[in-house]
Amino acid sequence: MKLIGEKVVVRNLTRADVPMLVKWKNDPEIADLVRGAPINTTFEIENRRFTRGMDDHDTLRLIIETLPGKPIGFISLGDIDRDNHKAEVGMLIGEKEYWDGGFGTEGLKLLLEYLFFEMDFNRIGLEVFEYNTRAKKAYQKIGFKVEGIVRQGLFRKSRYYDIFIMGILKQDFAELLK
Ligand SMILES: CC(C)(COP(=O)(O)OP(=O)(O)OC[C@H]1O[C@@H](n2cnc3c(N)ncnc32)[C@H](O)[C@@H]1OP(=O)(O)O)[C@@H](O)C(=O)NCCC(=O)NCCS
Repeated sequence: MKLIGEKVVVRNLTRADVPMLVKWKNDPEIADLVRGAPINTTFEIENRRFTRGMDDHDTLRLIIETLPGKPIGFISLGDIDRDNHKAEVGMLIGEKEYWDGGFGTEGLKLLLEYLFFEMDFNRIGLEVFEYNTRAKKAYQKIGFKVEGIVRQGLFRKSRYYDIFIMGILKQDFAELLK
């Protein structure tokens, strides 16, 4: 898969991307903002995950790269529910100098366009931690809506935080493209 935008390309993860993924996931600032326990991952763990992913048709693992071909981030589409035409997305821009430049939102928009109009998905959901105001803003710009709050759903650094459940429907996205 290769989705080409004005700033980024979204393409399948390859084994050559694994070291980059390890670097991004081990960045404490990023680990604080994404799902999964904030523990150090290793090349071996991510390499095994990559191998397992090759047989896993319920998860899509993608790289966001700049047009000149520099990998800057990662998107994973999981919990793919074909009966109900929905899935959950997680993402990170790992190269932090690209934060706030519109790269993440363009990458996710390209993916949504593909999922809604070529793959017949109807709903994409995600979770955002209450303190991740940048991500919440970025997702709202795309058209995601806050659908609920998991009160104190996250325990980090000795305290509880809420988790925002956000979602976008094909009809919301189509409306925004008009
Ligand atoms: C969240 C993320 C994917 C967004 O991608 P991005 O390319 O940086 O997003 P954009 O530049 O399109 O939009 C970010 C917006 O947040 C705004 N913003 C930045 N810091 C903010 C803050 N502290 N509070 C509110 N808004 C903020 C920016 O100004 C920008 O809005 P604008 O375009 O209206 O100026 C990316 O920043 C990222 O990967 N962050 C770290 C990991 C992470 O949080 N992943 C998501 C987990 S749910």
